[in-house]
Amino acid sequence: MRACTSSSPSSSKSPSIFSVSILSALFLSFSSLSAGFDCQDVAADRQHFDFNQLGGPHRVHWLQDPDIVHQEQFNYTFTLDICHPLKRDKGVPKVEFCHLGSRVCAVRETIDMSDKNNRTINPIDIAGTYRMDNGRTIDAKFSLLRNSKSHSDAGREGVRAELHGGRFPFKDNKNGLDQMAIIEFVCDKDRTGLENDEKDDGEKEDDGKDGEKEDSKKLRRREDSKCEDSDKSLRFCSYEVEEQEKGKKVSVLRLEWRTKYACEDALDDAEGSHWGFFAWFIIILFLATAAYLIFGSWLNYNRYGARGWDLLPHGDTIRDLPYIFKDWARRVAGAIQGPGSRGGYSAV
Ligand SMILES: *[C@@H]1O[C@H](CO)[C@@H](O)[C@H](O)[C@H]1NC(C)=O
Ligand SMILES: *[C@@H]1O[C@H](CO)[C@@H](O)[C@H](O)[C@H]1NC(C)=O
Repeated sequence: MRACTSSSPSSSKSPSIFSVSILSALFLSFSSLSAGFDCQDVAADRQHFDFNQLGGPHRVHWLQDPDIVHQEQFNYTFTLDICHPLKRDKGVPKVEFCHLGSRVCAVRETIDMSDKNNRTINPIDIAGTYRMDNGRTIDAKFSLLRNSKSHSDAGREGVRAELHGGRFPFKDNKNGLDQMAIIEFVCDKDRTGLENDEKDDGEKEDDGKDGEKEDSKKLRRREDSKCEDSDKSLRFCSYEVEEQEKGKKVSVLRLEWRTKYACEDALDDAEGSHWGFFAWFIIILFLATAAYLIFGSWLNYNRYGARGWDLLPHGDTIRDLPYIFKDWARRVAGAIQGPGSRGGYSAV
């Protein structure tokens, strides 16, 4: 009978499986933290969104009003990829694009109005995880628009993303200004989010940057709208210094992205149909079993005048089920424990 205690190896197995799963859970959460966030599963206030289709580099432009005093004008090109770090376009010098790990990058061209031929280019890191440089991270925060305190967001469906990590000048800890991007993904069931998109699909440098030659439309901001007046799904809203709590100044880039992937039922639809199928399967199985038992009982009652256990179809088998199961379990246990202990059992 001592052979029965041979189950100890299996009991020591469960804690190790347990610890392995804890370790892998820790590892997974750590790796997703360090990479920024998972585009496929963006969680905002317990709602989940899949922004995978919005991945890849996208571009918006903004030609700022001329600064008459300084005789200059800023022409911005913002490139963002919410799912992957940006890469530099082929042919663009390293100093004219953001640092490795950038997800949102502004390239600012300064047009010197007194001397039309002097143009300078400054890349501005707005958001990203810069592990190779200063170790700043994107620290992405997501929230539902309808949970926002702001009045103008009342009744809007979608997600607000706050992406951090940028600074300009990048290496200047004293005089630099923290940068940040606020992207509002607004639910629009008729849009994929790629309408009139200026996709950045130029050839890339291996380490992450490139140069573009497409003509850009000048963007004007209308007085009555917060955002660029255009039919694009991804729109520029503003880029200006804002005062955060405690008087801290931050340069904030605001974008609006109208897309069906920001609708709260976008994922429910897909998942709902799976669960619906299983639920129906189980309900139908249950109903079929019940109908079989009831109809069988009725038949036995009418035809053979059966009572008690005999009413049920296969009544004998059902009555014997506990014994059949016990017998089966004993056989399985014997097979697992091997020939040594089987001898012990046969003695019983
Ligand atoms: C061009 O402008 C920058 C500042 O905007 C200045 O530092 C630089 O000297 C100018 N270059 C020429 C050739 O004027
Ligand atoms: C602004 O930059 C874009 C993209 O680099 C360019 O196509 C456009 O001509 C520039 N606009 C001006 C007024 O320089």
